[in-house]
Amino acid sequence: MSGDKTTLEAIKYTPGKLLILDQLALPHETIFENVKTVQDGHAAIKTMKTRGAPAIAIVAALSLAVDASARQTQGEFDSAAAALTFLEESLEYLKTSRPTAVNLFDAANKLSAINQQAASAESATAASVVQIYVQAAEQMLIDDVQDNKNIGKFGADFIVNHVGNSKDISVLTHCNTGSLATAGWGTALGIIRDLHARGDLTHAYCTETRPYNQGSRLTAYELVYENIPATLVCDSMASALLKQNPSVQAIIVGADRVAANGDTANKIGTYQLAITAKHHGILFIVAAPSTSIDLNTKTGADIVIEERPADELTNVTGVRIVDGQPTPTTVRTAAQHIGVWNPSFDVTPSELISAIVTEKGVAVKSPGKSFDMASFLQI
Ligand code: MRU
Repeated sequence: MSGDKTTLEAIKYTPGKLLILDQLALPHETIFENVKTVQDGHAAIKTMKTRGAPAIAIVAALSLAVDASARQTQGEFDSAAAALTFLEESLEYLKTSRPTAVNLFDAANKLSAINQQAASAESATAASVVQIYVQAAEQMLIDDVQDNKNIGKFGADFIVNHVGNSKDISVLTHCNTGSLATAGWGTALGIIRDLHARGDLTHAYCTETRPYNQGSRLTAYELVYENIPATLVCDSMASALLKQNPSVQAIIVGADRVAANGDTANKIGTYQLAITAKHHGILFIVAAPSTSIDLNTKTGADIVIEERPADELTNVTGVRIVDGQPTPTTVRTAAQHIGVWNPSFDVTPSELISAIVTEKGVAVKSPGKSFDMASFLQI
């Protein structure tokens, strides 16, 4: 039931059991944590043991599936209405874990509609309401892998067509958008994986992605795991890389929320990459499932940007070997008493984006216009 077996798995699910890969321990240790309750799911998302927009939504949905199933088996719900109340209150609670990635809110709203419908059936029982919820949550896990495969194919086709006869395609990516951030395969990293599988990729570059190092800890780990030729750069090297290396023909990133006009919130540092892509005349591609598109958000100005704790910026966490065991060690690098601003995401304006690749196809703009994501979604 869980993701593609040939790639890394961050979410292992079998009915009644959910294990998540603790991404805070990567790349040094592979630790799976048992998520038994919605409180466990909420904590895993808030502390970023699970992160990445699609994975956040799926872990939230499945944490409720295992929690509700266990309660149902223990006879905790005495009616369909009692099961419905638990499911609805839990979804509201899960929505408070992180604010920016819309996938969580989209999943919660869709699941809530399914719950309401299930509970309103004349023959509804607690068991039927829970069962219908669980099936819908499980389907999200299955759909995400297929959506990512389609994103990979559409995105790779788009880049190869755009660069014409060039056989020298290198790309730069930011943050982590791979198997670890999704149910499997990945979005922006899925496109890189697809280019590599076709023999069309010369080299992948990944940014470190300060302050939380999703690039150096997670994307670098995935690229090595997949044997994709790759090089790590720190965020401040991106413009120099593009200047020196004309084979970098595209920057590919994921999204946490795409507004109706195409403005896109993604990991902090994405905006400056889009500016440098424009300056160097290369493609700047956003890759995301359509569940990342929020038509209720008209422009990027309406997107809530999460601010993370100061210590994620002032400290670095690594691993020291103590008595032969990898032991997490946090070291402060910033001066004491300095003020800190730590937004987790920024918004890239639609005019800097060449294309938005989804599982439904590739959204492009008419010259001089913004994206029209509402029309795109009707295709
Ligand atoms: O703070 P994170 O690690 O959850 O941020 C992740 C990103 O910004 C990703 O680019 C985005 O969620 C897309 S993941 C397929």
